[in-house]
Amino acid sequence: MQIKIAPSILASDFSQAGETVKRLQAGGADLVHCDVMDGNFVPPITFGHQMVAAIRPHTSLPLDCHLMVLHPETHFEEFKKAGADFVTVHVEACGEKTRENLGKIRALGMKCGAVINPDTPVEALYDLVPISDMLLIMSVFPGWGGQKFIPESLSRIEKLRNFCVKNGFPARDIEVDGGVCEGNVKEIVAAGANVIVAGSAVFRSADLGEAVRKLRGV
Ligand code: DX5
Ligand code: ZN
Repeated sequence: MQIKIAPSILASDFSQAGETVKRLQAGGADLVHCDVMDGNFVPPITFGHQMVAAIRPHTSLPLDCHLMVLHPETHFEEFKKAGADFVTVHVEACGEKTRENLGKIRALGMKCGAVINPDTPVEALYDLVPISDMLLIMSVFPGWGGQKFIPESLSRIEKLRNFCVKNGFPARDIEVDGGVCEGNVKEIVAAGANVIVAGSAVFRSADLGEAVRKLRGV
């Protein structure tokens, strides 16, 4: 499967956001991961659709908006207008509205994804595989960059990939987010993830292109 690298701008200098996404594109990134936090679903507040609109003119890369917010459905239209390509929502935030919310994202012409926290069983995603473009397994508890990868995430990714393969969705995008670095990306990909989010691993490097290439394993 094609490996896609999705640097998270959470770890970048927000005052340079336009420049940053240009550098990411020049460096060979595949997606730009935007971590939206509301101070409720997770304690910190980061940014909202205004940031997405601000970076949109500076890159043609798809913008992958990870909504760590309660009631995400109240923001879908704004993210669409801002130029988001992917919107992913947490099962823990949406509850029984998860299916409906994924449908709303698609109806607006964006790609949709369901996300689970490290303590939510992988089985919570099974019913959502057919109606999601992407499934996101958090490999840290959401809220902060720079945390350590939770090793149990590997077997969770593997379980989900096996489910997708056995049920007719072998090429479904499985994204992993949190604590990914050059040292563990190989086993993460071997477990079955193909969309790799990395914040600190990319932005602590002076050469973004080199960091992206290392994560891709080339
Ligand atoms: C965590 C965010 C992640 C974070 C990843 O809540 O969803 O996307 O930015 O950062 P690193 O790669 O530093 O763990
Ligand atoms: Zn994220």
